[in-house]
Parts: sequence; structure tokens; C-alpha cells
Amino acid sequence: MTAEVTSQPDENRVWTLEELEDTLLPGHASNKSGRDIIFAWLARYQEAKASGQEAINGTVGSLLEDNGELAVNPIVSSTLRQQADLEMSAYAPLPGLPHFRALVQELALGDGLAEIQSQGIHTEAIITPGGTGSLYMSARNLLEPGEALLLRDYHWGPYNTIANECGVTTATWPLTGKDSQIDEGALRSILSQLLIDQNRILSWLNDPAHNPTGMTLNAESRMQVLSIFADTAANNPNKGVTLFLDGAYAAYSREHHGWGDTIRDFTRECIWPGNLLVCYGFSASKSHTLYGQRCGALVMLHPNRSFIDRLVEVMLHTGRGTWSGAARLPQATLHSIHSDVDKFVDWLHERDRLQQMLDKRRELFNSRCAKEGVPLLPSHDGYFAFLPHTNPEPIAQAAAARGLYVVPLRGGIRIGLCSIPTADADKAAGILAEAWRISG
Ligand SMILES: Cc1ncc(COP(=O)(O)O)c(C=O)c1O
Repeated sequence: MTAEVTSQPDENRVWTLEELEDTLLPGHASNKSGRDIIFAWLARYQEAKASGQEAINGTVGSLLEDNGELAVNPIVSSTLRQQADLEMSAYAPLPGLPHFRALVQELALGDGLAEIQSQGIHTEAIITPGGTGSLYMSARNLLEPGEALLLRDYHWGPYNTIANECGVTTATWPLTGKDSQIDEGALRSILSQLLIDQNRILSWLNDPAHNPTGMTLNAESRMQVLSIFADTAANNPNKGVTLFLDGAYAAYSREHHGWGDTIRDFTRECIWPGNLLVCYGFSASKSHTLYGQRCGALVMLHPNRSFIDRLVEVMLHTGRGTWSGAARLPQATLHSIHSDVDKFVDWLHERDRLQQMLDKRRELFNSRCAKEGVPLLPSHDGYFAFLPHTNPEPIAQAAAARGLYVVPLRGGIRIGLCSIPTADADKAAGILAEAWRISG
């Protein structure tokens, strides 16, 4: 039996994009837009380079060698290639390979982990597709739709996209205080304000080596932040408070496990309120130069074992309903590297070399900016530096006209030190200074 055809499509009709959108996309989807500004400025750099101009690439968020090639930690790629067929083909258990789940907690929190656990804090980790997956899981489950996620004033742009996909709004607290790393008054006040309007707090804090500034909190500031969140929880026993530490760039900061140390010190000295949850988003994208393998983890810390188990169940439900499982191959690779002394030492040496390369670029860039009076935000570690400005586009245009390609974001210019060759770091700062003077 054939279906009855009631009308024929008009073969001459030319659909406009607007008509197609109106017809095929529901409102919540057609509100989405996403021309990625970073890729647009990278394309401009590539065009300039292809047309034979001298051009410096400060656009991308991947670490490039001084010759412009992607930095790849060789022991990681060779170990990946040596994995058994099973590791390449089989599904991983949904929470991740058990040995990876144990390892990733150490990678995230370092030597502090054992003492944190011995102080009665239970920890668990589940594999996620990149650090992004862990952020998504938290936004999906630790807030009610429509509630506000707390961010710092300057943050990685996709934070807004993830919040949007999870149906939550955003609120912000200042990046720094006037003369201190933390504006304690502003943070306490936004936390109190949020708890008048909603039943839970979820705050994402990208530290150390913050994207887009390169700022890193020192030990005192870390403890100050954790104590403020713990106080907020203690003073609001009917509300839930989650501090999510996004450690995407921790491998390239001076204190790789600073947060592990701070949490350990906190558990030694302070009482952990039951309504306080701490999460850590691990990413192997930068630390193991495995950007495309999509390997990350959500690490959760709480004094109640049963609650941690329940959280695992809840988060895995989100994973199952969104991306199903995460890739097995990078989990097996990381475990092979970190359970073999020779491989581990190779990984560490290369990681340190890459970190030193970044440090050198930053030193050259920061000191020239200081000499030229360019008011960069505090910048200590990692991939980026940031020049705040209310109208960044003309500065980026003027820099591009002089051969430096950087990214104008809301609130300023992001400079990817990770992609600027060391030999060009001083020159790049000189160009930025000139562009800032004439357009600022
Ligand atoms: C601040 C920040 N958090 C998290 C991530 C997550 O990266 P991935 O999902 O590749 O692990 C990135 C990547 O650029 C980032 O910049």
C-alpha cells in the first residue's frame, strides 16, 4: 500500500534562509548563534601569512612550538599508538576505567589527595569528554533551570554557551579586588544575593592560569575563596553551595596542585559543612597535549560517601543522555604513562620544557608591556594575557595592520602567548602597545 500524496512540493520555490529557519527550527534553537570570533581572527592571520606578509599569531588557544607547529608531547602520542586493539575499540565503562578514575584524582589534586581522604573527605572521579564535559555535568545537575551560575567577570567564552545549553543564566564577581587578588566584599555580597533568589550556588572558578588573563591565585587567595564558600554554606544550612575548580591549565602553572594543597590545609583546620560540595574539572587537552581525544574528568569531594555515590549516579545519567560514554583510548594511554616510571619521566620533562617556553614568552611580553605602560591584567601562568578595554575591536584591527593577530573579546583583547613564537614575544608586545596608544 502506498501513502496518499495530498499535495506536491512546489519545485520552483526558492526558500529563503529565514523561511527555512522559521519552518525547521524551534525558537530555542534559532536563538543560537556562534560565529567563533577566535577562529575568525585565526583565519585572518592565516590569510596574511598565506599572502606572504610577516604575521604573528596570537589567536589560538593551543600551545604551538616556536616554529608554529602544534606542541605534541611525544611520549603521549607514542604510548597512544602502542595501546592494544581492545583499548582502541572497546567501550569504556560509563564512569571510566577504574585505574584511570583513581589516577585522575592524583593528577588533579597531587600529594594533598591522600591526606584529604584521611581527614574524612570522600572523593570520586568520572571520565568526561574533556574538561568541558565536567562543566556541563555540573551545570546540568547542581542548579535548577533558570538559576544563575556564578562566574568571574572575565571568563572563557564557552562558559556562557554551556550555561545556555543547560538553561541556566550567569552572574559574575570581580576578577580582582582593588589591591588584592580577591574582592572579598563583592564575592560575599553576590553569594548572599544569589541565595536570596535561589536555593543553590554553583560557581566555576578557572584557576590556576586563568583563561583569558593568565592570572593565578596564590595560596592565601585560594584559602580565602574556599573559606568564603564554606562560610556561605555554614551560614545557609538549607542551601547547597558548590565550588567548581576548573583546572584546565594547571599543568602549566607554578603550583600544579595548589588547590589540592589548599583543600588539604582546609580539611586540617576547618569543619567542612555538609551542604558544601567541591568539584574539580580535569582536562588532558593541555597537560597531555591530547586536545582532540576529548579526555577529562569530574572529580568530586564531599564528607559523605553515600552522597558521593549518589552524585556519580546522577552525573552518569547526564553523560548517558548526552554523549553516552567517553573515549577509552586516552584513559588507557594516561594510565600507561603514569604507571611506568620511564614514560612518566619523559612526559614530565617535556611538560616542563613546554612550561618553560611559555614562561619565557610571558616574561618577554610582560616586561615590554610594563615598559610601554600597557595596562595588562595580572598575568602569571599558562597560555594567555589580557588587555582590558571597553572597545577592543579597533585595537585588534590596528595590531593586525602591523602584523600581530590577537582576539578582541567582550571587555578586552586576549593575547595567546601559547601561539606566539618566543623570538616574537617582545615585538608582539611592542605592536600591541602601539595599537593600544593609537586606538585606545
Ligand atoms: C577555561 C577552560 N576550561 C575548560 C576548558 C576545557 O577544555 P577541554 O574540554 O578541551 O578539556 C578549556 C579549553 O580551552 C578552557 O579554556
